[in-house]
Amino acid sequence: MAGHISIAIDGPSGSGKSTLARKLAERLGFVYLDTGAIYRAMGLYVHRAGADLDDEQAVDALLPRLQKIRFGHENGTQRVFLGEEDVSEAIRMPEVSVYASQVAAYAAVRAFLLDMQREFAELYDVVMDGRDIGTVVLPHASLKVFLTATPERRAERRYAELRSRGVEEAYEQVLQDIRDRDERDMSRDISPLRQAADAVVLDTTDLDLDESLEALVRLAETRLPLGGERA
Ligand code: DC
Repeated sequence: MAGHISIAIDGPSGSGKSTLARKLAERLGFVYLDTGAIYRAMGLYVHRAGADLDDEQAVDALLPRLQKIRFGHENGTQRVFLGEEDVSEAIRMPEVSVYASQVAAYAAVRAFLLDMQREFAELYDVVMDGRDIGTVVLPHASLKVFLTATPERRAERRYAELRSRGVEEAYEQVLQDIRDRDERDMSRDISPLRQAADAVVLDTTDLDLDESLEALVRLAETRLPLGGERA
């Protein structure tokens, strides 16, 4: 393997991917790329352009005009830019999750965003999280992890997080949403969420955040040429 080290972390919604991928990158001194943020920025762009997000051809027609999606860092946090505008907060709005999942199902959109993701891994040592990193984006990643937990445990975590932000939603509803998203992510035709054959499965059902992070760090340390000479 020449050049940079890449760690691919895939898994379903609510498995703790983003938090763990970010913390793992910090520990290893790697760059973290949240690929969901790219789909979110793309969804926001299409929505603002006034296109019907259900109209695949209309969305495809916008691709050549897409302003550049860029990443930057500010005090250790990742910022996302659409052209010159910092859209880091805007892309976290709940409606943008829906726009993102709509555009993420289109082949031309995925192909368009593929190069951007691959270029990133050519430039830096990276931890990238998403749904298809180990299977499609970086099939030769240095380490692939499939992060999972039972739907019930993922729903418990999401429920606790919502409550801590003052959002009241019934646990049963949160669980149903998790099940629905699993179904959508795993059943779409293009790049569905699926475990790469050579991925290491990390089931965090019975692990807290620190324990999960330590398990990831151990995996990276035992399987990757960290710190030493690299070919
Ligand atoms: O991880 P997230 O919730 O921020 O992702 C937003 C949407 O983008 C989600 O609906 C799935 C999609 N996505 C994808 O299809 N492939 C990726 N590599 C990352 C995200």
